[in-house]
Amino acid sequence: VTPRIPISPLNPDTVLDYDSRIAQLERVKAGSNRPLNLTEKILYSHLFDTAETQWNLSEIRRGETLLQLRPDRVACHDATATMALLQFISAGLPKVKIPTTIHSDHLIVSRDGADEDLKRGLIQHEEVYKFLSSAGKKYGIGWWKPGAGIIHITIFENYAFPGGLIIGTDSHTPNAGGLGMLGIGVGGSDAVDAMAGMPWEVMNPKVVGVRLTGKLHGWASTKDIICKLAGITTVSGGKGKVFEFFGPGTETLGATGMATVCNMSAEIGSTSCIFPFTDSMARYLSATKRSGIAQLANSYKDVLLRPDEGAENHYDDIIEIDLDTLEPHINGPFTPDLSHPLSQLKDAVRQSDWPVEISHAMVGSCTNSSYEDLYKTQQLVMQAKAAGIDRVKTPFMVAPGSEDIRTTAEADGILQTLRDAGAVVLSTTCGPCVGQWDRTDVDVKGRERNTVVSSFNRNFVGRHDGNPETCSFVTSPEMVTAFAYAGRIDFNPATDALPVNSSQQEFRFTAPTSVELPSRFTAGQDLYQPPQENSAHLQVDINPKSDRLQLLQPFKPRQPGATTDMPILVKVKGKCTTDHISPAGPWYNYRGHLENISHNMLLAASNAFLPSTSTMLGHTIHPLDGNVELIHEVARDLQRRSTPWCIIGDWNYGEGSSREHAALEPRYLGGLAIIARSFARIHETNLKKQGMLPLTFAEPVDYDRIREGDRITLRGVEEDELQPSSTVVMHVQTKNGEMWDCDLRHTYSEGQLRWLRAGSALNSMREKVAA
Ligand code: F3S
Repeated sequence: VTPRIPISPLNPDTVLDYDSRIAQLERVKAGSNRPLNLTEKILYSHLFDTAETQWNLSEIRRGETLLQLRPDRVACHDATATMALLQFISAGLPKVKIPTTIHSDHLIVSRDGADEDLKRGLIQHEEVYKFLSSAGKKYGIGWWKPGAGIIHITIFENYAFPGGLIIGTDSHTPNAGGLGMLGIGVGGSDAVDAMAGMPWEVMNPKVVGVRLTGKLHGWASTKDIICKLAGITTVSGGKGKVFEFFGPGTETLGATGMATVCNMSAEIGSTSCIFPFTDSMARYLSATKRSGIAQLANSYKDVLLRPDEGAENHYDDIIEIDLDTLEPHINGPFTPDLSHPLSQLKDAVRQSDWPVEISHAMVGSCTNSSYEDLYKTQQLVMQAKAAGIDRVKTPFMVAPGSEDIRTTAEADGILQTLRDAGAVVLSTTCGPCVGQWDRTDVDVKGRERNTVVSSFNRNFVGRHDGNPETCSFVTSPEMVTAFAYAGRIDFNPATDALPVNSSQQEFRFTAPTSVELPSRFTAGQDLYQPPQENSAHLQVDINPKSDRLQLLQPFKPRQPGATTDMPILVKVKGKCTTDHISPAGPWYNYRGHLENISHNMLLAASNAFLPSTSTMLGHTIHPLDGNVELIHEVARDLQRRSTPWCIIGDWNYGEGSSREHAALEPRYLGGLAIIARSFARIHETNLKKQGMLPLTFAEPVDYDRIREGDRITLRGVEEDELQPSSTVVMHVQTKNGEMWDCDLRHTYSEGQLRWLRAGSALNSMREKVAA
C-alpha cells in the first residue's frame, strides 16, 4: 500500500498521489510505446482530463498544441499578488481551489541592513500586508510574512516536489526544477484561472535536452552552466521551450545548485527548465523535513520522475555541456546573454567603456542565496583573512534566501565572518535584485556611470537602482566575493594575485569547495500565516481612499471598427522588457492601484521617432500636436479625446518578468493593439488576457517601414473575422497621404478569442461564474 504522504508538511490534507499521475499518463498514452521525456511526463500527467476533454498522445504536438493543465499549486509574491488577488476578488469566487501561497519579498527596500530595513518596510507597506493577510485568510491562501524568505527559496524549502507542476506569478518560478518539479512563470490572470480550479492553458513546449557530462572543477559552478547556456541561446532563444537536463553530469550536482540553473533559465525566455530526480534531491528533501517525499520519489523515479529510456532521441534539440571544461562566466552588462568566459573577460573589459572599478558587489537573490552559496562566500573571506586581508575593497552586500538559511548561517558563524570583513547582511528579500535599493554611494539621479557585480540573474538597464548608467554583471557568488576583494571587474581569481595590505606580499585565492547542505538546518522565526477555515464572514482590508490599492473595474469590450485610423503612441526601438514597460523600484508601491501605476508606462522605453539619448527615454511625439511628452501622458490625452491608439514593438517585446501591469497599463490607458516583430511568451498571454491585441509582422522588415505620423487600420480583427490562424491586414496611411498594406499574424486559440470578445479573460470568467 502506498503511504499517504502530503505534498508538503504545510498542506497535510493534500496527498502526493503518484499512482494517479501514472494512471493519467497511461490514459493519455493509450498504449503508445514512444518514450517520453521528463517534461512530457509531468505535463501530460497534469492534463485537465474531463469526460468532455480526453487527451490522447497521438493528437498532442510539441510547439503546436495548447495544453489545458491542472497545476499542483500556485505561488505569488507581494508585488504581483495584489493584482492577482484583486482579479480573484473581481471574479466573485469564494475560495481558492488549489493550494496557493503569497510571499512578501519584493517590497522591502534595502538600505541599512536586515533589521532596520525590515522594521522600516513593515511600517511603509503596512496597508499592503494587511490586505494580503486578510485576503489570504478569507480566500484560503497561505501568507508568508516579510522576512520569511524569497518566494522561490521558500517554495524550494517547503513545497517543491519531484514530478509536480507549479505556476507562479514570477518569471523565476522554474527554480523548482532543481527538485524535479516543473515551474512555470505566468501572469496574475493565469494564476487566477488555476486558483479558481479552472484549466490553466499553455502552449505545449518544445523540449531541448541539455546533456551534462563530467564534473565541475575549480572556480566553475552551477551558475556557469546557465550563464554559458544564455550565451549560446540568447535571451529569446528559449521561447516556447523547456530545457531538460540529462546525462551523468546531473548526478554530480546538489539540489540548490540545480535550482540556480533552472531559476536563471528565465533569462533565456524559456517556458521552464528541469532536472531528473537525483540522490541529491532526496538528500535535500530529507534535510528540509520531507524524507517521506524523498522515499516515495525514490520508488517512483524510473516510471515518473526521469525520462524514459531512449527519450533522448526524441528531444527537439540537444545541447552538450562538458562540466570538466566549463569555465566561470561573467555575463553583462545590460543583458544576461552577453556571456564572457573568465579567460576572456580582461580583453572584453579592455575593449569596452565599462568602468573597471566596481562600485558594489552583491551576493543574494533567488538565484544564489542558498546555504551552499553563503558557505562558499565565507570560505573566500576566511582565506583572505588568513592571508592578512581583513576587509573587502568594495562595498559588499549579502542577502540569505530564507529565514531558515539566515538562522543556520548565523548559527554556523558564516554571517558574522562576512560582517567582520565589511559585508552588510540584508534581509531575506529581493532588495537590489529588483530595484528596491535606496542607493547613495553613486549619483543615481545624475546617472553616474558605474559597475556593479552580483550573483543575481537579471541585469537589464536600470534593474537594480533605476540608473541606466549602472553596468551590471551577473556571475557566481564565489566570483562576486573575489571581485569584492579585488575591486576591479578585470580581476581573474584563478590567475591574479592581490596585494596584502601595505606589505610586499601577495595573496592568491584558492577555489572554494562546495558543501551541499548544512549539517542541519536551524529553524528560524515562524513567519507563516496558514489559510483559515470558515472564513466566509471575513472582510478584506481595502481603504477606498488608498493610493496603493484599488478595486478593479471590468474593461469594456472593444467597439466594432475601433481599430480604424489609430495613431501610433510610440515605435519602440530595441530591447523592451517588462522593466521598460512598467519599471519596478518605487513603482512597487502602486502595484495594487492600476490608475496610479499607469504613470510609469514605458518610462524606460526607447522611441525610434526620437534621438537615442537617455533623456529621451519614455518620451514620444504627440501624434495630434507634435509636442514631445512622456508616453503615458500622451496615452492619457488620447484616451481623454476618445482616440484609441496602438504601439509598434521590436523583437521579443515584453521579455523579462511576468508582471501583468505591463499589459494592464496600455489597456487601461486606451490602447488596443501592440504590433511587434515578436513577443515574449508570458507578455503575449498577458496582453491577450487583458483584452489587448498582440500581433506580429508576417515580414519583420515591415517594422522598418513605419514612420512617425503614420495612421494604422487593422482589418480582420472584428468579432466575426478573427479566427485561429486567420491573417490580419495592417493598412498604413502616412503623413504624406501614401498608403501601404502588410500582413500581421496572431496566435489566438478559440478559447483565447473568447477573452477578446468579452473584453478580458476576467470578464469571460465572470460570465462563467455567473452562469
Ligand atoms: Fe526576487 Fe530577484 Fe528573484 S526579484 S524573486 S530575487 S529575481
